[in-house]
Amino acid sequence: MSSLMKNYGRFNVSFTHGEKAFLYDNNGGKYYDFASGISVTNLGHNFPPVTKAVSEQAQKVIHTSNLYEIELQKILAEKISKASFASQLFFCNSGAEANEAAIKLARLYGNTVHHGKRYKIISMYNSFHGRTYATMGVTAQEKIQKGFTPMPAYNQYIPFNNIDALKDAVSLNDTCAIMLELFQGEGGVMPVDIEFLKEIRRICDEQDILLIIDEVQTGYGRTGCMFAYELYGIEPDIMTLSKAIANGVPMGAVVAKEKAACLFTAGTHGSTFGGNPLACAAAIAVMDEMQSDGFLQRVQEKGKKLKEYLKNNLPESCIVKGEGLLIGVKTPFAPKDVVENALKINF
Ligand SMILES: Cc1ncc(COP(=O)(O)O)c(C=O)c1O
Repeated sequence: MSSLMKNYGRFNVSFTHGEKAFLYDNNGGKYYDFASGISVTNLGHNFPPVTKAVSEQAQKVIHTSNLYEIELQKILAEKISKASFASQLFFCNSGAEANEAAIKLARLYGNTVHHGKRYKIISMYNSFHGRTYATMGVTAQEKIQKGFTPMPAYNQYIPFNNIDALKDAVSLNDTCAIMLELFQGEGGVMPVDIEFLKEIRRICDEQDILLIIDEVQTGYGRTGCMFAYELYGIEPDIMTLSKAIANGVPMGAVVAKEKAACLFTAGTHGSTFGGNPLACAAAIAVMDEMQSDGFLQRVQEKGKKLKEYLKNNLPESCIVKGEGLLIGVKTPFAPKDVVENALKINF
């Protein structure tokens, strides 16, 4: 019997190494990794610049803590700022931690700028923002919250892409933030409607509410843009990142406009590991690659080709959706059966 807790339903395969888009198991099997570690290894496995950066940094210093200046953190923050909206960053270790920090920033905003009157965060049904207590609270899915209720009272949920419900829910009295993914990953690669997003942005501007966009999955080139908000011609006030940010080295980040970022002062939030030199070295190598000439264009081209291929080769009952290389297939088959059959294919 394993000494591990049983909180994962795992497939019966174990990988020993990876190279580019392939994973290899301990029985000589070779697999196409379409899951990329749940949208993490966007540059593929054993990507030389990341491997080199991690190896070299590991030989210098892996960790020092945020009690001291970390030069690589500053370099990385500068690069992400330049690639996004002018802002400041906080580094952590995962998507849930990034969203947890964003929620704390929103609460600080409500407590300071709106003098404690505003504390509610509106999020979307079928969203996924993480499994810590606060992030589970904004994740409006019964199956995720089951067994852990009651959730914190500041959560308010609306149907995704429903403008009427949005207008009904927003209140000058208590709404401090609206939080959403631009493609609901767990919700079935469901894209946001542009009109819905524009209305959220308009309401947030008009009523001084923070717009938090969770780009944990959609960010870092997945959709063919560096960040998915670029597809819609709007900017969030806060964006959360993780997954592909360091191609597999655990890291998360909160990117915020000055009006929210300035609320994190010494002692308000922190992380022992967040943005340590090892993670930053990997993340800088990732950023440099994704900012190189033609990278995002290649994602768009590959995404188009893959979508065409899937549309032409899957049964008609399958619906192919998504943007760039964030692609989902709605099938009439049970997902578990699809994965189990795919695992039997050897390349
Ligand atoms: C959109 C989104 N937000 C947050 C998370 C949580 O990230 P983590 O598992 O790193 O805590 C995920 C994870 O799948 C995600 O897809």
